Amino acid sequence: MSEFWSDVTRQLHPYIPGEQPKLSNLIKLNTNEHPLPPSAAVLQAIRAIEPDALRRYPDPDSIALRSAIARQSGLAVDEVFVGNGSDEVLAHVFQALISSSTTFSAPDITYSFYPVWAQLYRMQLNEVPLLDDFHINVPAMCAAPGPLLLANPNAPTGIALSIEQLEQLVASDRQRLVVVDEAYFGFGARSAVSLLADYDNLLITRSLSKSHSLAGLRLGYALGSKPLIQGLVRVKDSFNSYPIDAIAQSAALAAIEDASWLQQASTAVSYTREQLSKGLAKLGFEVLPSSANFVFCRHSSVSGKAIFDALRAQGIIIRRWDKPRIDDYLRITVGTDDQSEALLAALDNILST
Ligand SMILES: Cc1ncc(COP(=O)(O)O)c(C=O)c1O
Repeated sequence: MSEFWSDVTRQLHPYIPGEQPKLSNLIKLNTNEHPLPPSAAVLQAIRAIEPDALRRYPDPDSIALRSAIARQSGLAVDEVFVGNGSDEVLAHVFQALISSSTTFSAPDITYSFYPVWAQLYRMQLNEVPLLDDFHINVPAMCAAPGPLLLANPNAPTGIALSIEQLEQLVASDRQRLVVVDEAYFGFGARSAVSLLADYDNLLITRSLSKSHSLAGLRLGYALGSKPLIQGLVRVKDSFNSYPIDAIAQSAALAAIEDASWLQQASTAVSYTREQLSKGLAKLGFEVLPSSANFVFCRHSSVSGKAIFDALRAQGIIIRRWDKPRIDDYLRITVGTDDQSEALLAALDNILST
């Protein structure tokens, strides 16, 4: 603590990201990184960077990249915003849009960065409890106060809403902003993008970190009506005019244009996820239905903490939260087939001793 800290800084409880260990022999299934390397076109684009592209400032408006995202989503370029990871996009969404109200509503079990932004932007977070089966309570969300913020599929449960449920949320009050965080886009959940044509109170955020195996690149984006995007641009241009460097603009453009990589890689991850879920169920785990690149599960008799610690001792790291209702659950990233096999073998060993 420093005497120079502002009141807000004093009161913050910053987000704690999943561990990025330095040891290379670990099986790392704790931060939902993609198990496959990114598209070869991405690496080619990075290798093709010209010295001038580094000497000069990058395009502050990322026009080429935004145009490619727009084309793919059936939108206009001014309905697309890009930022340095979807965490940055979401931070701008709070500052530009959500904080126009004093309160916003989000599920009680969801991405743990949301309460941190609530604090940073001095907002009240109204938590809407998930149902007993961990699905989002749609009628309760519709009746909740202020803008709505939800992840679809939700994290850390992996459970997705249907397009009808998404429409129920945006149609419940057209004067109210609904932000759908699609960070886990591409692994089986239905996107809300088709609703943008009819609802200008909807904003969707996405990330290339998971779907495109580019967590290290830091690229996120938002899709929404022109006035919502203009609000985000105003905040961005009052914070950092060049959030996307020249390398990231080229590499992300190559990733977006390689639609067949996305299709194949997402199918591979979804297949491994189903195999992993079956393997876990055989070992006595209850596995929630996941539309993401992770599964959320708990064992019928052994505590989450005991399993987490035993896996760690064997060099396998996963994620767990010491929070009511979910402290026995484990969130496991879908890794390679070999990693899944190693994990299941380690679990079998732990549970039979
Ligand atoms: C629900 C959700 N939203 C947003 C993010 C942020 O993703 P990024 O900043 O890597 O784009 C994450 C990352 O784990 C997430 O789980």
